[in-house]
Amino acid sequence: MNAFRQEYKAKKVSLPQALELVSDGDKITAAMAGSEPQGLLAELANQYENFKNVRLITCLTMGDYGFQKPEMKGHIFNESWFYGSTDRKFHSEGNISYIPNNLHEAGEKKLDNDNIDIFWGTATPMDDRGYFSLSLGLTYEKMMIQDVDLVVLEINENLPWTLGDTQVHISEIDQVVENKAPLIELPNIEPGEVEMEIGRHIAPLIEDGSTLQLGIGGIPNAITECLKDKEDLGIHTEMFTDGMVDLFYSGAITGKRKTLWPGKMVTTFALGTQKLYDFLDHNLAVEFQQGNITNDPAIIGQNYKMVSINTALQVDLTGQVCSEAIGNKQYSGTGGQADTHRGAQRSEGGKGIIALRSTAKSGEISTIMSELPPGSKITLGRNDVDYIVTEHGIAHLKGKCIRDRVKAMINIAHPDFREQLRKEAQELQLW
Ligand code: COA
Repeated sequence: MNAFRQEYKAKKVSLPQALELVSDGDKITAAMAGSEPQGLLAELANQYENFKNVRLITCLTMGDYGFQKPEMKGHIFNESWFYGSTDRKFHSEGNISYIPNNLHEAGEKKLDNDNIDIFWGTATPMDDRGYFSLSLGLTYEKMMIQDVDLVVLEINENLPWTLGDTQVHISEIDQVVENKAPLIELPNIEPGEVEMEIGRHIAPLIEDGSTLQLGIGGIPNAITECLKDKEDLGIHTEMFTDGMVDLFYSGAITGKRKTLWPGKMVTTFALGTQKLYDFLDHNLAVEFQQGNITNDPAIIGQNYKMVSINTALQVDLTGQVCSEAIGNKQYSGTGGQADTHRGAQRSEGGKGIIALRSTAKSGEISTIMSELPPGSKITLGRNDVDYIVTEHGIAHLKGKCIRDRVKAMINIAHPDFREQLRKEAQELQLW
C-alpha cells in the first residue's frame, strides 16, 4: 500500500467518530448545495442533544436536517449565507439567521471576523497520488480547508471528478468519512411561455462572442433555450446549471473569444440534475475556480463582452432590485448577484441584466412596484442597475434620470398595472 493510502486509512473514521471532535461552542462551516456533507449533517442532527451552543454555518442547504427547528435551540444555531427552502420555511422559529454578504468575499470575511473551528466538506474518492477533487463546490470550501484547524471530508463515490482548482491532498485533511449518498439534485423546470418571451427579449442583447453568467432560478434555463443559434459564446459563471450543458451541445459555446481561460467554461459551483453531474466528470472544458476569483467584479470585468443575467422578485420604478426577500422575509440571498451585475458592466461591451416575470401569484401582484414593501432588502442598488427585462420588453436604466427610468419601467410592467403605477409615480413625485 502506498504512503498516501496508508495515511488515508489512518485518517478514516466513522460518522459518529467524526462527531467526537466537535465540542460545545464550536463553529462548523459546511460545504454548500450539491457539495453538502449529507452524512455529517444528518449525524449532527441525530446527536444534537449532546451539544451546547454549536454554530453551524451553511449556504443554500438542500437537505432537511431540522437545524432550524425549535428543539435545536441552545444546542445548534444555524447561520446561512443563502437561504434554501427549509431555511426560509422555518426562519420564523428563531433558530436561523442570514449572513448578509457578496459571494466573492463571503468566506474571507467569515474567516477574518469569526473563529471557525471545523470545516466539513465533500470530495471524490482519493487517487493514488493522494489527491481528491472537491467536485461540485469551490465557493469557499478550499479557502476553509486551507485556513481551518480541523478539516473533515465526506467521501462520496457518486461525486464527479471536476477539474480546475479542485484538488486537495490527503496531507491537508484531518479526517475522512466514507458515505455513498445519492447526489443532491435540483430538478429542471420546463420554461413556460412567459419565461420563453423573456428569453426572446434577451437574446438580441447577447452578441456573438459574449461571455455569460447565468444566475439561479427558473428564468435562466429558459434564456439558454433562446441562445442556441449564437456563435462562440463563453461561460464565466458562479453557478453551473443544466441549461449550460444543453447550450454547450447546441454548439453555441466555444469560449474562443474569451479573454480569461479561453476555451474553458469557468464556474465555482454546480447544482442541477444527474445529467449535469455526468457532464462535469473529468470534463476538460469546465474549469472550477474559487468564488473569490470567479465572482470578483474586477476579474469578471476582464472578460470580453461579459453579460450577467440574474433574476429578481421585485424591482421599483427607480431601479432598486430586490431579489432575496419579500418585505422583511428573507427568501434566498444576495449570492453573486451584485458581484456579477457590477462586474459585467466593467467589461468592454458588457451588460448587467435582471430578468423577471412582470407579475407573481398568478398575475395578482405586479413585480414592478412604485415603492418596495416596508422592510425590503436591496440586492442591487439603483446606482448599479443596468438592464431590467420582463416578458413585456427591456428597460435600459443605466445613466438615466428617475423620470426616464419610471417611464421605461412602466412600459415593461404588465399592462393591467401600468395605469396604477403611473398614478402612484405622480403621487410620489418620481420625476
Ligand atoms: N411578491 C410575492 N411573492 C413573489 C413575488 C413578489 N413580487 N415574486 C415571486 N414571488 C413568489 C413566487 O410566486 C414563488 O412562490 P411559490 O414558490 O409559492 O410559487 C416564489 O416567490 C419564487 O418565485 P420565482 O420567481 O419562481 O423564483 P425563482 O426560483 O425563479 O428564483 C430568485 C428567483 C430571485 C428568488 C432567485 O433568482 C434568487 O434567489 N436570486 C438572488 C441571488 C442571485 O441572483 N444570485 C446570482 C448568482 S447564482
